[in-house]
Amino acid sequence: MTTTDTNKDRVFIFDTTLRDGEQSPGATMTLEEKLQVAEALDEMGVDIIEAGFPIASNGDFEAVVAVAKQVKNATVAGLARAITADIDRAGEAVRYAQKGRIHTFVSTSPIHLAHQMKKTEDEVIEIIARTVAQARNLIDDVEWSAMDATRTPIEFLMRCVETAIKAGATTINLPDTVGYAVPEEHFAMFKTIIEKVPGADKAIFSVHCHNDLGLAVANSLAGVAGGARQIECTINGLGERAGNAALEEVVMALRTRGDAMPYHTQIESQHLARASRIVSAAANFPVQYNKAIVGKNAFAHESGIHQDGMLKNAETYEIMTPESVGIKATTLVMGKHSGRAAFKDKLKELGYELGDNAFQEAFVRFKDLADRKKHVYDADIVALVDDEVGSVGDRIRLIAMEVVSKTGGVHRCDMTLSIDGEENSVTFEGTGSVDAIFNAIKQAVGQAPHLVLYAVDGVTGGTDAQAGAHVRLELNGRIASGNAAEPDTLVASARAYLNAYNRLLIERGAAAQGAMAG
Ligand code: KIV
Ligand code: ZN
Repeated sequence: MTTTDTNKDRVFIFDTTLRDGEQSPGATMTLEEKLQVAEALDEMGVDIIEAGFPIASNGDFEAVVAVAKQVKNATVAGLARAITADIDRAGEAVRYAQKGRIHTFVSTSPIHLAHQMKKTEDEVIEIIARTVAQARNLIDDVEWSAMDATRTPIEFLMRCVETAIKAGATTINLPDTVGYAVPEEHFAMFKTIIEKVPGADKAIFSVHCHNDLGLAVANSLAGVAGGARQIECTINGLGERAGNAALEEVVMALRTRGDAMPYHTQIESQHLARASRIVSAAANFPVQYNKAIVGKNAFAHESGIHQDGMLKNAETYEIMTPESVGIKATTLVMGKHSGRAAFKDKLKELGYELGDNAFQEAFVRFKDLADRKKHVYDADIVALVDDEVGSVGDRIRLIAMEVVSKTGGVHRCDMTLSIDGEENSVTFEGTGSVDAIFNAIKQAVGQAPHLVLYAVDGVTGGTDAQAGAHVRLELNGRIASGNAAEPDTLVASARAYLNAYNRLLIERGAAAQGAMAG
């Protein structure tokens, strides 16, 4: 991609799942998971992948380097505050990419200037000129963002944008950092700035919307109507607080309503469902059932009238096909007699390519499941593989567990865990079975994280369905989520708790805590 792309209706997709998305409380991903997400994004045709915030920690730096080395088509961006060391570090990380970008930002709104930055407008202008020029000396592709742009007086915002373009910024991003804008004013902000700022034709303008009022997608599309040609978004709308604009929603809105919005992206939409699954598993963040495009119910028709219409002609109630986003009809999978080759084929069809060890472990679990469960569906396989991939590298594992629960009586859990390879057995009671299980784990690991969320759902229907358990824990200000799928609800709960706890153990540099961006 270059800023001289002549197709004026082409909208560039800038995915920030690995940066803004990963900043969601509890969404921390391991390096392997980040690489898996980056591969899926690159395959589907994302133009720019923001791989992380290199100054935040060594882990973030290494992740940006690894993504930069792996990605074949997309531009790889690294985020930097308007600070010399940040920009140098981002430049160092993205230089491994075939196409690299430094994305630097500074706050521009009065409230941020007064309380966070303690700077005057003139000082901010000087910072923009100096830091954008520094980035431009390191690389040709520089994006500059005005943090909290939508709460910045337009006259000052125009001065900032003009300064950034003069200093060499090739993309200008005007984020709705706090999710405050409404579509009409978002449209007007872009239109005014693009029409009035001298040199605006030399840069691509970009929207970056947060979803605090549920308007992130609407605002992004309004920004495009106002002249922006890059949308910053995340898979499943992951991101700070209420999240960012969901990539799958902006892409399908532009594709489905080309009559009303004559713009196009180069995303191959049939990859969307798979990308959603990969991100949900990597970030341990369940997708809400009625989530547009990729939710379990997005293409489910329940009422009799709707079902009747669908049988006569799918277009009666369907504005896009499930196949167009990569959702296939639920199919019955092989049974306990299916062999390795059939299982491998099924994994391929579902979009998974596992290494030898991961494949072997997934196959053993599949056989075990098929022994216990009469019908094994695609959703079971997806849950099983995501679970397997998501727990690779876990330091603490469940070896055995026995739960005794009596009406009006005792609820006790005997549990054996492997902690860094050493077995540890404990017994603990609780007010119910799950309480006893979680207490036993806390006793074994010697720490008591705060339970932020505990939820269980059925992976498929029926009483023999696998239970999908979701746990979110908080310890010393850090949050991590864990998932597990098992035929037994209590085992699933224990494993989800351990998965979350293992993620709390993944080291993240102290700098990351102070260096978070919106
Ligand atoms: O929301 C925001 O303002 C951001 C910037 C760092 C681009 O994420
Ligand atoms: Zn943001």
